[in-house]
Amino acid sequence: MNRIGIIGGSGIYDPELFEDVVEKPVDTPFGSPSSDPVVGYIGDREVVFIPRHGEGHRHCPTEVNYRANIFALKKLGVDRIIAANAVGSLNIDVEPLDIVLPDQIFDRTKKRDSTFYSEGVVAHVGFADPFCQQLSKSIADVAGDDYSVVEGGTYVAIEGPMFSTRAESNFYRDQGFDIIGMTAVPEAKLAREAEICYSIIATVTDYDVWHEEEDVTMDLVVERMQKNENAIKDVIANVVPEIPRERDCVCSSALENTIATDPSEIPR
Ligand code: ADE
Repeated sequence: MNRIGIIGGSGIYDPELFEDVVEKPVDTPFGSPSSDPVVGYIGDREVVFIPRHGEGHRHCPTEVNYRANIFALKKLGVDRIIAANAVGSLNIDVEPLDIVLPDQIFDRTKKRDSTFYSEGVVAHVGFADPFCQQLSKSIADVAGDDYSVVEGGTYVAIEGPMFSTRAESNFYRDQGFDIIGMTAVPEAKLAREAEICYSIIATVTDYDVWHEEEDVTMDLVVERMQKNENAIKDVIANVVPEIPRERDCVCSSALENTIATDPSEIPR
């Protein structure tokens, strides 16, 4: 079906970008997605939207049902996901209101279900390059015309919901990480296990707590998120029609030769 999934982050809760929208409730073995997926169109491309934090921002980063969200998108025929994420900057050259298209993740989350493969089926899936390079390139080509875009960089995913301590923030900077957020893991892992291409549009809201000028607060994040909202919507509206129809990436065959369990032992 080749639909394109859009996961709305903080500040992107409604499918106003899309035309001819229809709600498509989906059951999954993992429970309910954050809210009923909405199917619609951008131009002649079919898109499916889920707001990650649910209506009214009810699910905190730890509580988002990531497995249900990715499963529901897969069930609705999605083979690419663009996810919007608000992030802090750990790099002096990455400024508030910039758009970052990271190419690496460092996982510091602690208590999330981050695999579809357990309870009788074991799979070891490659994840060296966690974001889809073809999809990120499409986004960079479109966003670079009108916005300050940083291509590449490492996203450190923390558990939250608290922001980091100054010691943690400085530690992440010492490691060379560029941006910090709370939601790209396990989304990126589950998308890879589902053989769905996954890239994020990370919009920078703050300098976390290492910068002498300001410490991150929720007020600051909300204020800058509102400023970023139109930019994200504009990029999504313009990139979707440009995404090549054929996939040319490792994501589409990520499961090849990865199942460790003896096929005759797999519970049916
Ligand atoms: N999201 C936006 N800013 C953040 C920060 N400084 N830390 C973690 N998540 C964030």
